[in-house]
Amino acid sequence: MPATFDFGEFPIFTTARLTMHQVAPDDADGMMRLFSDARVLTYLNMEPMDTPEKASGFINWLRGAYERQEGLDWTIRTHAGEFVGMCGMYQWNKSDRRIDLGYHILPERWGQGYATEATHAMLGWAFEALDLHRVQADCTDGNIGSERVLLKCGFTLEGIWRESCWEHGRFVNIRQFGLLRREYLKNDGG
Ligand SMILES: CC(C)(COP(=O)(O)OP(=O)(O)OC[C@H]1O[C@@H](n2cnc3c(N)ncnc32)[C@H](O)[C@@H]1OP(=O)(O)O)[C@@H](O)C(=O)NCCC(=O)NCCS
Repeated sequence: MPATFDFGEFPIFTTARLTMHQVAPDDADGMMRLFSDARVLTYLNMEPMDTPEKASGFINWLRGAYERQEGLDWTIRTHAGEFVGMCGMYQWNKSDRRIDLGYHILPERWGQGYATEATHAMLGWAFEALDLHRVQADCTDGNIGSERVLLKCGFTLEGIWRESCWEHGRFVNIRQFGLLRREYLKNDGG
């Protein structure tokens, strides 16, 4: 089935413990807490998002990416409405049927399977709605939590881009992961 998704209605997900909506202006407080925390920024090349204005600007930029049909970004909340984190899919290549994904979770929620649960939701929707052949993701060497999420979701480590990013004053290796449609269907979606 060819991809029919036209960036009209934003896809909303409900999983066992989470609800995932499009990132919205009232997520600014959660976003600021998330991206001003040094633990979250350890493996990210970004300045702390330490003011409400910066958080609102970031949210507007993410929403603009959806309007430009460049990506989708979800706020992750518990069913009770508590902010847990955010995740997204970027750089949908329609001819190669490929997309990238990423996720960020508040440190007090780490290790409870939330990133894995949110990633499963994105994958389930995207392989179907976008008719993907491949999903890819990368993380900095040493970001064990992120690597574990990808491995738990069935991704394969495909290679290491040596010293390919500048983070916190040094060049770091980037680990590239991929998940093919047939692997996803065999593991999860079959
Ligand atoms: C990466 C991140 C999203 C993972 O979120 P999470 O909700 O904790 O992920 P999950 O609980 O689904 O899975 C994490 C796994 O890694 C494990 N883990 C995390 N840190 C670890 C470490 N330092 N050493 C060993 N295992 C670790 C957890 O125990 C868990 O494994 P398990 O389910 O086998 O026990 C979160 O750590 C985060 O937001 N980090 C900061 C932002 C970031 O780096 N984002 C990714 C950019 S590529």
